Amino acid sequence: MPRNQPQEEVRDTSTITLRTMTSEDLPQVLSFFEEVNPNATRDQISSWTTPILKNWPHLCWVAVTGGELVGAITAELRFFGVPFIEDLFVSESHRRQGVGSRLISRVLDEFRKMGVPFVKVESNPSIWPLAQKLYYRHGFRVCGVEQDRHGFGPKGDSVILKKTFRENS
Ligand SMILES: CC(C)(COP(=O)(O)OP(=O)(O)OC[C@H]1O[C@@H](n2cnc3c(N)ncnc32)[C@H](O)[C@@H]1OP(=O)(O)O)[C@@H](O)C(=O)NCCC(=O)NCCS
Repeated sequence: MPRNQPQEEVRDTSTITLRTMTSEDLPQVLSFFEEVNPNATRDQISSWTTPILKNWPHLCWVAVTGGELVGAITAELRFFGVPFIEDLFVSESHRRQGVGSRLISRVLDEFRKMGVPFVKVESNPSIWPLAQKLYYRHGFRVCGVEQDRHGFGPKGDSVILKKTFRENS
């Protein structure tokens, strides 16, 4: 190979580790989730993310490499105990390396340990093709559509996906 030719960076995904989120991670996590929720303000995002972390710390995880946060996921039991994955984000430079899938698997394991019968996630139609690929791989399937439901700003329809752990749930 000629000298000075840029070499393709080969990223070692094994150096990316997952750990539970802490309150110190929140500023970075909120910045991540601002990209996931472009119509919501940082304060609005904080108003649901901060209590989720406080109430469900074992359902909030980050992906870290070299001390840098590169991904985050939050989940909770919504009103009446409905298990939901809320927000998921992976830094652009670390996408398509399985980090998003690892974060989902981690949270699903935690939900399994809790003995919940199913887990749901809501998808904005604008990211539907991506969400479908990603979540279908983990056994989620469409269970409903809510009209004019999704997000802040202009309302859009929301697709609800569900993964069932136990039959008849
Ligand atoms: C969605 C997101 C978290 C995926 O993270 P990731 O680490 O890249 O996901 P993975 O590497 O685990 O991808 C798993 C599979 O999801 C699908 N997928 C992920 N990114 C995709 C993309 N940009 N386009 C199409 N499919 C995609 C693919 O099937 C992929 O598997 P493959 O790479 O073998 O084809 C990341 O793209 C992101 O943060 N996006 C912006 C925020 C967002 O849209 N959040 C909502 C998630 S539903």
